[in-house]
Amino acid sequence: MTDRRLITGQTLSFINHPFQVPPEQSARHIRRGAVLIENGVIAAVDDADTLRALAPDVIVEDMGEALILPGFIDAHAHYPQSAIIASWGKRLIDWLNTYTFPEEMRFGDPTYAADVANRYFDLTLSHGTTTVASYCTIHPASVTAFFEAAQTRGVRAIAGKTCMDRNAPDGLRDTAQSAYDDSKSLLERWHGTDRLSYAITPRFTPTSSPDQLAALGALWAEHPDCLMQTHLSEQVDEIAWVHDLHPEARDYLDTYECHGLVGPGAMFGHAIHLEPRERARIAEADASLIHCPTSNTFIGSGLFDMDGLMAEGQRIGLATDTGGGSSFSMLRTMAAAYEVAQLRGCALHPAQLLWLATAGSARALRMDDRIGTLKPGIEADLIALDLSSTPAIAQSNTRAEDIWQAVFPTIMMGDDRAVQRVWVAGNPVCGTMAKAH
Ligand code: GUN
Ligand code: ZN
Repeated sequence: MTDRRLITGQTLSFINHPFQVPPEQSARHIRRGAVLIENGVIAAVDDADTLRALAPDVIVEDMGEALILPGFIDAHAHYPQSAIIASWGKRLIDWLNTYTFPEEMRFGDPTYAADVANRYFDLTLSHGTTTVASYCTIHPASVTAFFEAAQTRGVRAIAGKTCMDRNAPDGLRDTAQSAYDDSKSLLERWHGTDRLSYAITPRFTPTSSPDQLAALGALWAEHPDCLMQTHLSEQVDEIAWVHDLHPEARDYLDTYECHGLVGPGAMFGHAIHLEPRERARIAEADASLIHCPTSNTFIGSGLFDMDGLMAEGQRIGLATDTGGGSSFSMLRTMAAAYEVAQLRGCALHPAQLLWLATAGSARALRMDDRIGTLKPGIEADLIALDLSSTPAIAQSNTRAEDIWQAVFPTIMMGDDRAVQRVWVAGNPVCGTMAKAH
């Protein structure tokens, strides 16, 4: 029997790329709209009255004034860093050595890994994030724990074993061969199972030897339908270190490129201090850049060139980078993206921010045929946003003259209290129905 459900509220569906058309014309807003779901997939988005007439006998969830959106897509996170989020006072390399590596060491214990993975999904779902691409640790058990927690909840998720064979402490290094073997067997176990996908994951050039990068490049060539995620040009000191390690390389990107790690499906986290050749090569290769604004301000990395990179036609996703990032919330992440762009003289429109956190990230993950938009055929991972979730937001929202003014205070000041309800593949997983205001 067909499982059908109708969710009513305000709806917002992107019909165009908001960096390529005037942003306010990039989406269709329906004041009294509805989303019809059939067997976990969106069947229709239209006026509530039209869909009620079309489907008179379905379960109706009336979300009142709430804004129905696709669930947020976090295109770069480190779930094992959940417990060390908001650790004080360090920049990238010191931060890794002081906080991150000791915590990641603990993920050889499957019980600990499962504990953190379950907590991570509970937290991110309650913040409205329905898809995450996460790094794990060097331990295969950390990948198993993540995928099992995702599978239990039915969410679409991407992850990979983080590979490191140099410049990391004892107990947190693999080898070129074991990185290849472990990644391959995890990939064969999980890639394409339910809603799960594997991403080949060298942490970054400073912690992966050329042999390891070559082994992972070979693995990717054998499984080109997998994603590949790594870090690129996040901090100036890191780039100088890469140049010391590889004086022969043309630039940082070249250290990946010469091992077959630049191509469609590559996702480069941060990508702040790029050389012109790197920008041109990334665009030509149709690889993705992942903007992690709360991390870039928190660790002091720099200001991502959203405007310039979008003008070049780059594929760009948005991400928390938990726990280098200082929040689990994609709302907070959008606010930080707005602030970072302002510091570069560019005011991102609310349509652009919402697009980055949904359709843009889906496109960066090359999953825009499955997630990230409210339209028929897309999996029904949805959220209902309360646009008056706190007194401060509510008083600002009362002045709004259109949907963009109504949603912007929630983008800038909202948190998990704004996320009223979350559906994964059409099933409610957290939250309640309409709130009275
Ligand atoms: N570069 C290499 N590893 C990491 C990490 O875990 N977090 C961040 N922000 N940058 C990195
Ligand atoms: Zn990262």
